[in-house]
Amino acid sequence: MSRELRVSKIREGTVIDHIDAGRALHVLRILGLTGSEGLVIAIVMNVPSKKLGRKDIVKVEGIELREDQVNKIALIAPSATINIIRDYEVVEKVRVKVPERIEGLLRCVNPNCITNQPREPIKPRFRVVSLRPLKLVCEYCGAELGQEDIIAQFTGGG
Ligand code: CTP
Ligand code: ZN
Repeated sequence: MSRELRVSKIREGTVIDHIDAGRALHVLRILGLTGSEGLVIAIVMNVPSKKLGRKDIVKVEGIELREDQVNKIALIAPSATINIIRDYEVVEKVRVKVPERIEGLLRCVNPNCITNQPREPIKPRFRVVSLRPLKLVCEYCGAELGQEDIIAQFTGGG
């Protein structure tokens, strides 16, 4: 008998797999899900993974992700794969990708940055300077955003 932890397959929806261990709840926050929507959701945390050592998985029945949600997930779980499930089969699998430049999704941490001035309608723009650990640099003022800053902004903590 297999000693693997098994969670039911889903019929229709999205499985976000290979999430960095411990970040499944951040992914749910990005998706705006609390559980009170009534959707079937399975969350698996800190299970062994060949690729990552440990990983989290989020399965949600009945939804497909928007592009901005996929882009945000990439910034907190750069190894994640998004699997679209129809009639119990994986019909599409995409690995998220951290773009070289990030526009509009994040705010600069420097309050004096021109992108934070209400009179200057300038979209914040960042360049990726390191992937693991993730580090972004503001193209306007050079301020650095680290993984914790990004998580805080996406989960409402900052
Ligand atoms: N899955 C699911 N319900 C389904 C089909 C798949 O919950 N009806 C889940 C699987 O449990 C797995 C993920 O979707 O977590 C991807 O499925 P699959 O591609 O079959 O697994 P792997 O080949 O192990 O994926 P990978 O190569 O991306 O590791
Ligand atoms: Zn800035």
